[in-house]
Amino acid sequence: MPDALDLLKTRRSVKPMELTGPAPSPAELDTLLTIASRVPDHGKLTPWRFIVFEGDAGLKAGEAIAEIFRADHPDATPEQIEFERKRLARAPLVIAVVSRAGPHVKIPEWEQLLSSGACAMSLVLAAHAMGYAATWITEWYAYDRRVLDALGLAPNEKITGFVHVGRPAKPPEDRPRPPLSQIVTRFSG
Ligand SMILES: Cc1cc2nc3c(=O)[nH]c(=O)nc-3n(C[C@H](O)[C@H](O)[C@H](O)COP(=O)(O)O)c2cc1C
Repeated sequence: MPDALDLLKTRRSVKPMELTGPAPSPAELDTLLTIASRVPDHGKLTPWRFIVFEGDAGLKAGEAIAEIFRADHPDATPEQIEFERKRLARAPLVIAVVSRAGPHVKIPEWEQLLSSGACAMSLVLAAHAMGYAATWITEWYAYDRRVLDALGLAPNEKITGFVHVGRPAKPPEDRPRPPLSQIVTRFSG
C-alpha cells in the first residue's frame, strides 16, 4: 500500500477507456462507498447519494443514453450510437455521485454541493489507495434531463460526477500542475 503522502502526490486520472478489469470486489466496493460517505457535511444533511453501475448495468443505462443521442442526432452513424451506448461501460465499475443539495434554513446549497464533490474526490483517492485508478467525469449526459430521468434522479438531484474505476492499462503520464507561485498568496493585512 503506498504511503499516504506519496499516494496524494502521485494520484493521476486515467481515461475510462484505459481502465480494465477486474473490478473491485464487493468488499472493496463497500470500502470505497464507506470512505466516500465519510466527508465533511455541514449540518449532517447527507446531501448526496451513490448509484453503482457494475456488470452489464452500464450497458443498460447506455441504452437510454444512446436513444436520446439518436433522437437528437438523426444523422449519427452506427459507430457513434454504439459509442454512446458504451459510455457507462468503458470501465469495470462506475459510481455516480448524485447531489441532493437544496435550499435549507441554515446550510447554503453551495456547501451541500461542495460536500458531494468531496464524496467524488474521496472515491477517486480511495480507489487509488487500493491500487486501482479512477477518473471523475461528467460528459454531456450528466446534464441531460431525459438521461437523469432514465437513471432515476429526482428533479432536485444533479450528477456531481461519474467516477470510473479500474486497473490502469498502462502507467499514466503526469501532466503539468499549476506552480504554487501562481495560485498561492500570503495574506499580509
Ligand atoms: C466536476 C468535474 C467534471 C469533470 N468532467 C470531465 C469530463 O467530462 N471529461 C473529462 O475529460 N474530464 C473531466 N474532468 C477532469 C478529470 O476528472 C481530470 O481531472 C482530468 O482528466 C485531469 O487529470 P488529473 O486528475 O490527473 O489532473 C472533470 C473534473 C471535475 C472535477
